[in-house]
Amino acid sequence: MQSISSKSTQTQLNTMAFSSVAIAFISSLVFSLLPRAYPAELFVDHRNFSVPKSDVNLLEFPLNLEYLEAEFFLYGALGYGLDKVDPNLTMGGPSPIGAKKANLDAFTRDVILQFALQEVGHLKAIKKTVKGFPRPQLDLSASSFAKLMDHAFKKPLVPPFDPYANSINYLIASYVIPYVGLTGYVGANPKLQGPVSKRLVAGLLGVESGQDAVIRGLLYERAVEKVHPYEVSVAEFTNRISQLRNRLGHAGLKDEGLIVPKNLGAEGKINGNVLAGDEFSVAYDRTPEEILRIVYGSGNESVPGGFYPKGGNGRIARSYLHSANRYT
Ligand SMILES: *[C@@H]1O[C@H](CO)[C@@H](O)[C@H](O)[C@H]1NC(C)=O
Ligand SMILES: *[C@@H]1O[C@H](CO)[C@@H](O)[C@H](O)[C@H]1NC(C)=O
Ligand SMILES: *[C@@H]1O[C@H](CO)[C@@H](O)[C@H](O)[C@H]1NC(C)=O
Repeated sequence: MQSISSKSTQTQLNTMAFSSVAIAFISSLVFSLLPRAYPAELFVDHRNFSVPKSDVNLLEFPLNLEYLEAEFFLYGALGYGLDKVDPNLTMGGPSPIGAKKANLDAFTRDVILQFALQEVGHLKAIKKTVKGFPRPQLDLSASSFAKLMDHAFKKPLVPPFDPYANSINYLIASYVIPYVGLTGYVGANPKLQGPVSKRLVAGLLGVESGQDAVIRGLLYERAVEKVHPYEVSVAEFTNRISQLRNRLGHAGLKDEGLIVPKNLGAEGKINGNVLAGDEFSVAYDRTPEEILRIVYGSGNESVPGGFYPKGGNGRIARSYLHSANRYT
């Protein structure tokens, strides 16, 4: 027994010795191959190695809209924005132009403050996954919204539309934004490679769609009400804004107001349109180019304006800006 056991111990030791030589050899082989074999060029973000390089720009681009929403909602509810709430998140980008506290009833203010803080969360969620970029110059002045509404109605509204004047105006102005973000997230999703990126975008899409649904739901409740002093219904405002976005996006029908011809409603059978969707009630998608055309108000991703007088930030938006108008 004793000798057999010591023999087998010897065999085990030999095997182990051989194994460790083999392991050392294989490891050195692997390590010698590693610098060439390891796909380091697939990854660029130094804080997080789970995001493929091809996803980075697509994850950073929505920051343009998230900054806009955060500032519009924070100012609307509180009268101040990221500079006071979380200055680090701006990464030194300029303060928004013309944003201010809106004259909101208590209920609307409560909802808008929740949206505002959700947007702060979204900025953090994106920036803990990719490096991000500084807040772009935003123009959230009443005149910026007034210009958009004039464009939507193809004539000047008198007096000019003021998003900050009251709750209904503010909700109509809010109709302009999260929906565009939503279509962007739907558009980005099939282009993403990594599971971490997909999880992030699905999560952002969920809450962004929720915000859009709340805004649309509140407006739908008042759809036939006339917006003072224009004698134009709430539904008509939403239809005009959606039609403007379709025109600016240059990519066909991707936007629908609150009351539509039956063929645009769910199953082509209903005029009420509390949520927008295609013929199967699946959300529309938009590319970054379409989004830039809309939020610049120019219909051209190379011509900044609207809410972004100097254009958006990040690789995608900057790639369309020519040196001639980059600093104007
Ligand atoms: C990378 O980001 C994801 C999603 O935010 C997170 O779950 C993960 O822990 C991060 N990994 C590292 C190494 O920071
Ligand atoms: C902001 O950044 C500064 C400097 O990096 C840091 O000391 C501070 O803790 C940060 N503040 C927050 C709220 O993250
Ligand atoms: C967009 O603007 C750029 C720069 O002004 C111009 O060169 C281009 O032709 C415009 N594109 C369209 C489709 O109008």
